[in-house]
Amino acid sequence: MILQPLSMSMMMKILGFSEGYHDAGVTLIENGEILYASHAERYSKKKNDRLIHPHQIKESDVVVFYEKSFLKNIRRLYSGQGWKRRKTTIPYDYAYSHHQSHAAAGYFTSPFDDCNILVIDAIGEWDTISIWDGIQKVISWKYPYSLGLLYSAVTHRIGLKPNEDEYITMGMAAYGEPIYDLSELLSRNNHKGLGNYKPNAREEDLAASVQFLYEKELLSLVELCPKDNLILMGGCALNCVANSKIKNKNIWIMPNPGDAGSSLGAASLYYGEKLNWVDPYLGYELPRSNPKKIVKELLKSGVCGVASERAEFGPRALGNRSLLADCRLDIKDKVNEIKRRQKYRPFAPAILEEYADEYFDGPMNEYMQFVSYAKHDYDSVTHVDGTSRVQLVKPNCKSVIREILEEWYNKTGVPMLLNTSLNIKGMPMVNDEMDVKNFMKRYEVNVL
Ligand SMILES: [Fe+2]
Repeated sequence: MILQPLSMSMMMKILGFSEGYHDAGVTLIENGEILYASHAERYSKKKNDRLIHPHQIKESDVVVFYEKSFLKNIRRLYSGQGWKRRKTTIPYDYAYSHHQSHAAAGYFTSPFDDCNILVIDAIGEWDTISIWDGIQKVISWKYPYSLGLLYSAVTHRIGLKPNEDEYITMGMAAYGEPIYDLSELLSRNNHKGLGNYKPNAREEDLAASVQFLYEKELLSLVELCPKDNLILMGGCALNCVANSKIKNKNIWIMPNPGDAGSSLGAASLYYGEKLNWVDPYLGYELPRSNPKKIVKELLKSGVCGVASERAEFGPRALGNRSLLADCRLDIKDKVNEIKRRQKYRPFAPAILEEYADEYFDGPMNEYMQFVSYAKHDYDSVTHVDGTSRVQLVKPNCKSVIREILEEWYNKTGVPMLLNTSLNIKGMPMVNDEMDVKNFMKRYEVNVL
């Protein structure tokens, strides 16, 4: 592992990037500050774009990559995928391993010094699951044994897009019963999918079965982590339903735990010290929206788009690229008409932190990484199983969402709004001024 003497790396602008498979990302850090971090898809407008975009490339002193291409190619040969001879979009000076970058993205942004890190994803080079003590690897499980690959294979089997629609599988699970034991599939090579596995099974039951297996395996892995502080990373850390089943741990999940977030991990490994983590508003910058105008629009039409300041680094819209709606109304159909999404996908609420316990019972945080039980009757932000993936909006939240919610509470007495990502169906989240125009033209929804 290459850790630079701090005095050297402190002076440098370090650019980390991840690309090649899906959801490419770029992060720029300097002197412990994260200056910029973004997803390639927001610039190329290709969902989960696997290659970084020229507009993401910033001037830097050193460039680092998030995985070891040679090792990955050896594994690709082993798994029958063939050697991939391809240059990266930009040359790099150093590379770290895939799971090491995941672990570092968690560790160097976390509030913990003494902790375990549990990384679970589909596959990088060879590791598919790894447990770390700080940033020292303790144990790992290797391909083909992979929880993430199996979850993606089931996602494909039920007619959804692997490496993209896993969150829909998770949502669908609440509509099914976990009647199939899928553990026999865990050690198989699931790269090429499951074919016509259990042809007569209901999709909802397959989704519930893979979710059940994932939760069971996750909890056994957590048992192998002795420390009170636990960091979850890798794409599977986005499984907020499973995360919520972990008890008696202090948990940190960097808001972008998947591969795009590993651009930050690689950069922080080179830096070699904790970063000054503030929040995930790290991408393309727009002017700040006017909260009063947004609330006025919400009161008038029930729905309003917000595109304000820097874009979120991570898959969740946390108020800077959000479509907000009045959760008091029967507004689901209207928002669904705009989003054109499956009924399996619940809508989430953003709530002023001070009132959260009145409305929800269970784990929740400011990055929507857990689900909790609704104690209210607002169906538009409640999933079929009675849960919600809540965004807690703290008093020190820099996003305009804080002021919008305060104004909304003053006007309505409700501290909560429906919050979903601002994107055209099948497209990445809105990023820049042109995307805002296109969104408004397409849906006749005001974006402020
Ligand atoms: Fe990964």
